[in-house]
Amino acid sequence: ALARRKGVRFGTAVGLGETRGNSFDDPAFRALIAHECGLIVAENEHKWYVLRPSADSYDFGPADRLAAFAAERGLGLRGHTLLWSRDEFSAKWLAAHDFGPRPRAAAERMLVEHIRAVTARYPQVDSWDVVNETIDPATGELRDTILGRQIGPEIVEIAFHEAKAAAPKARLIYNDYMNFGDEEAVHRKGVLKLLERLKARGVPIDALGVQGHIGGGVDSTPVERFTAADQRDWRAFLDEVRGMGLDLLITEFDVNCRAMPADLARRDAEVAALGGDFLGMMLDYRELKQVLVWGLADGASWLQGTTPRADGLPKRPTPYDDRLRSKPLREAM
Ligand code: XIL
Repeated sequence: ALARRKGVRFGTAVGLGETRGNSFDDPAFRALIAHECGLIVAENEHKWYVLRPSADSYDFGPADRLAAFAAERGLGLRGHTLLWSRDEFSAKWLAAHDFGPRPRAAAERMLVEHIRAVTARYPQVDSWDVVNETIDPATGELRDTILGRQIGPEIVEIAFHEAKAAAPKARLIYNDYMNFGDEEAVHRKGVLKLLERLKARGVPIDALGVQGHIGGGVDSTPVERFTAADQRDWRAFLDEVRGMGLDLLITEFDVNCRAMPADLARRDAEVAALGGDFLGMMLDYRELKQVLVWGLADGASWLQGTTPRADGLPKRPTPYDDRLRSKPLREAM
């Protein structure tokens, strides 16, 4: 309700798989999700490695379960992602796949058929992450991938055009983790270059998905403050995106507290301060249409499985603790 008053929709990623303390099987956790959210997104269940056990089969089971949950609780559904430009997160069989005598055509057919099948199965999805993380943060150029190598750099636009044809009513999103801070400057620039090219070529794209994994990336340097210089650069980035006529979404918000104090009260306060600063600035943009967290409670956060804290303590990156008690981050939000 608070989000709606601000003209945005609020939601969370929900995963069926591996859990670290808060499970979808827990009715209290499901009730909290339904109570707090207007929409959900599958954490992994729409990815190739779950949907595509082999080149010629689909397993819609896990994604169907989440879609049924959304329908039962009256929640909207986002889709993540039709193409993730990271082979380590794609279908395992892809690396050994034989594309035959006409590999370019075969790869394109595989991508197009995937997009058609998945969008047709989930017509209720209101926004699709058509392409995820295709910019290499080190170079600002397109990442090298198996499908991309066969199809060429046009793979991005092919995916958007196909998604538009298959799901004409859905909002089409380019999603990435470019962040604030100097370390992410090349990444931001690369994303802008990609968006400019797509717009110039008339590609149907509606918004940029800002993942919003703040506090430092999985392996990169922890970032505990959002300095004035960071804010200036980040605004300049958002202004460019807005200037292209694109909307904004925060698609995967969480605050990595890897290097924040061990003391829980101090840590929760720092998480809330950094998260609040970031959201405060994002909410200055009326182009911001949705805010989704990547896990609603700490025990459901993927960050528990990434680079650990030096003291080994669990991280506290989400609005609720693992006993489903509200934390300062929720108040900040
Ligand atoms: C993560 C999931 O949370 C993990 O469970 C999985 O093992 C790997 O992917 N950016 C994205 C998301 O776009 O898909 C990632 O999700 C987190 C980073």
